[in-house]
Amino acid sequence: MSICFLNDKYLEIQDAKISPLDRGFLFGDAIYEVIIALNKKPFELDAHIERLKKNISKLKYSIDDQINFEEIVSEIISKNKNLNQVIYIQISRGTDQIRDHIPGNNLSPTIFVSSHELKTDFSLSTGEKAILLEDFRWRKSQIKATSLLANVIYRSAAKDKDVFETILFENGFITEGAVSNVFCCTDNKIITPPLSENILPGITRKVILEVIQDISLEYEESKIPIESFLEADEIWVTNSTKGIIPIIDLDGKKIGSGNPGEKYLKVSEAFMTKLLD
Ligand code: PDD
Repeated sequence: MSICFLNDKYLEIQDAKISPLDRGFLFGDAIYEVIIALNKKPFELDAHIERLKKNISKLKYSIDDQINFEEIVSEIISKNKNLNQVIYIQISRGTDQIRDHIPGNNLSPTIFVSSHELKTDFSLSTGEKAILLEDFRWRKSQIKATSLLANVIYRSAAKDKDVFETILFENGFITEGAVSNVFCCTDNKIITPPLSENILPGITRKVILEVIQDISLEYEESKIPIESFLEADEIWVTNSTKGIIPIIDLDGKKIGSGNPGEKYLKVSEAFMTKLLD
């Protein structure tokens, strides 16, 4: 049993119903956020809500200014019993009268917030495998949109190969993971691709960059050619639900020593301190 929020009500998730004419269902015309709460305390809530609001205004969804997302998230956390939760927020443009690519006038967005148990314990990882695939997503992946068919294909490819993540490249350069941002470390310097039109500005990426500065490690945001990525000493992927995970094998090639690297251990420790703050 879990309690969710739909439009203006808190209700059991099995009682939550939306119309098949909802544009999120028909067109993937919807955006989302995934936020973790540890010990019932949301992590980086303000940053997640800020990203959500940017996407609302970019897509011109007509959200009522009075809606208090922070309050809804807090209510959902308190109404659900798990101490550690994954909070999902989805906002679609609304429900049309007929299916039409062009949105109808005066649509009222559908707002859905749910919770399920967060199972990650964020302890140090022994390392994971990943594969590389060409980035064939649309060119606006900086928008956290629910139209994620490409990501579903990439995640399924990872599952088929029994690896943790699919890492993507475009025109010879690394972009991000199917559900994560990417870092590598070469010659003592940590590198992550700069935010561009096709990279999600991950909240974990932001926190990891803060942590790197806090502990005075050298870093830069610059494009990573595939060849230097494959030769990196360390590779990490980051996201809200998994934290920071070292990749020790990419497409069957050993990365660095084949064990989680020294920089990962330092950054991960500082990240966990921040997480449990
Ligand atoms: N996704 N890039 C992509 C394509 C992602 O889907 C995600 C996270 C990230 C990392 O963002 P953040 O650090 O804000 O979680 C980067 C979530 C977890 C999801 O879709 O479930």
